[in-house]
Amino acid sequence: MYRTFTCGELRLADVGKTVVLAGWVQRVRKMGGMTFIDLRDRYGITQLSFDESINAEVFVEANKLGREYVVQATGVVKERYSKNAQLPTGDIEIEVEKLQVLNPAVTPPFTIEDDTDGGDDIRMKYRYLDLRRTAVRKNLELRHKMAFEVRRYLDEQGFLEVETPVLVNSTPEGARDFVVPSRMNPGQFYALPQSPQILKQLLMVSGFDRYFQIVKCFRDEDLRADRQPEFTQIDCEMSFVEQEDILQMFEGMSRHLFKTIKGIDLPKLPRMTWADAMKYYGSDKPDTRFDMRFVELHDMFHAHPGFGVFDGAAYIGGICAKGAASYTRKQIDALTDYVRRPQIGAKGLVYARVEQDGTVKSSVDKFYSQDVLQELKSQMNAEGGDLILILSGDDAMRTRKQLCELRLEMGKQLGLRDPQKFSCLWVIDFPMYEWSDEEQRLMAMHHPFTSPKPEDIPMLDTDPAAVRANAYDMVINGVEVGGGSIRIHDAKLQEKVFEILGFTPEQAQAKFGFLMNAFKYGAPPHGGLAYGLDRFVSLFAGLDSIRDCIAFPKNNQGKDVMLGAPGVIDQAQLDELQLKLSNTKQ
Ligand code: AMO
Repeated sequence: MYRTFTCGELRLADVGKTVVLAGWVQRVRKMGGMTFIDLRDRYGITQLSFDESINAEVFVEANKLGREYVVQATGVVKERYSKNAQLPTGDIEIEVEKLQVLNPAVTPPFTIEDDTDGGDDIRMKYRYLDLRRTAVRKNLELRHKMAFEVRRYLDEQGFLEVETPVLVNSTPEGARDFVVPSRMNPGQFYALPQSPQILKQLLMVSGFDRYFQIVKCFRDEDLRADRQPEFTQIDCEMSFVEQEDILQMFEGMSRHLFKTIKGIDLPKLPRMTWADAMKYYGSDKPDTRFDMRFVELHDMFHAHPGFGVFDGAAYIGGICAKGAASYTRKQIDALTDYVRRPQIGAKGLVYARVEQDGTVKSSVDKFYSQDVLQELKSQMNAEGGDLILILSGDDAMRTRKQLCELRLEMGKQLGLRDPQKFSCLWVIDFPMYEWSDEEQRLMAMHHPFTSPKPEDIPMLDTDPAAVRANAYDMVINGVEVGGGSIRIHDAKLQEKVFEILGFTPEQAQAKFGFLMNAFKYGAPPHGGLAYGLDRFVSLFAGLDSIRDCIAFPKNNQGKDVMLGAPGVIDQAQLDELQLKLSNTKQ
């Protein structure tokens, strides 16, 4: 036996036992005739003690150990003189009688402790060492528990986990595909699934009724803190259901996760239409941990012309930051710079401070009387001590998005975005289509299999841009954790939707013919959704980026710097695949 206990389990009750531990040397502290070693494994840290006056031979051996050596120590559990309240094992130590080096280690490139001295790049290069750190390991433990509870809940609800292939062809989720050349079919390529969307719909045609899969998906898109090129979905589909059935089922799953993992009783989730989310928060994933809703001010200001910028603006919107009237000129200038950054693109920011006596002082005082400013105060529901911030523009949608960024920044500055506080909701009634300037056509906002709301179907012929979909997203703390829709199961309606998306019948047949064919053999009404597991875990862990809850993530350039992937391949391999490269330095 390499060990009789782990490094996380010995307590005062074990004093007197002879034990064998194995693990990594986290730290060696030499104090004259005594040496102390923190021995670490997945379960915790236990202090080993070496006393020259008790066992000089083992004491000498201990002094030769370096960081991250793998050792086995046999000894007796003793009560510690100076206890460490930070460690669960902090009341005891092992007085070592026998020490064996199982493997020496070269000095690691960074310290493997919670507060490490290693920067991001070096930790990614040596990710296997980074994963030894408790903080990182805990995220993977959380991920395991969440995946486990998802399986438990869905199993109890009668869902079957079915694996779908990874080598498929293009799937329509709107990102670029990763492709894999086929040696056996020269000149042909597989695409990796952006999601198992079509396959899960085919499983419904096969009668599987309740499907789920915790599954890798691949999307070649620009990376952000909450996006990875390969990520994991909790992918689900159900037959003979309406939107309400799906929302209930998966609200239940979220409630189960919050309860079992975080000990939180999730209240019934509010539902907000997409139109309201855009109107009041400028985002389809509003952070509802704090209020600060938008108030539309164009009618009010247009009734009192005076300030040229507002007079000509199609949209004017304000937010009221409670208690922020103490913001200094410098702080407001910094906010102005913030919204002027190219990523946000606002031209400027107007502010109005409500003094304790109720008077309003603003950056546009000279254009408006105190009466108008009082009207502003009342529209904004502001009171003494509040700060009103206003953006205006010609394009309502663009200005709302800018105001959304400002709202989020103010929320952050005022400490209203506590990662340990959760606010969840459903956003429903998304539009079916969005206009693409790039493609000069309507694109599916969710994906082309999403069903329109039945009452909006007649508008497919007259005003397709106004048609709403039976589509929904679950949003937590301003993050889209999941999304889905009721699907079209009628081949005729599906053809019509393809037509509006600009596919000719031949193109639709070539791309999705197998699905439309399958629907001819009896497709049940069905719908589903998919959660991003990485996002769900990172929210529960309170992380800013999903990277830290993925064992071996990619960096912002889509690279795995530890594996050196992507990498070049041999000429022989290229030849076998009948591939020729152009313009690349091999
Ligand atoms: P959607 O494209 O909305 O829907 O994806 C579902 C969820 O997957 C997560 N997600 C991502 N997570 C990390 N990195 C990414 N690059 C990434 N892209 C998406 C998000 C998102 O809410 N087939 C449909 C689902 C359905 O209709 O049933 C789909 O894939 O959390």
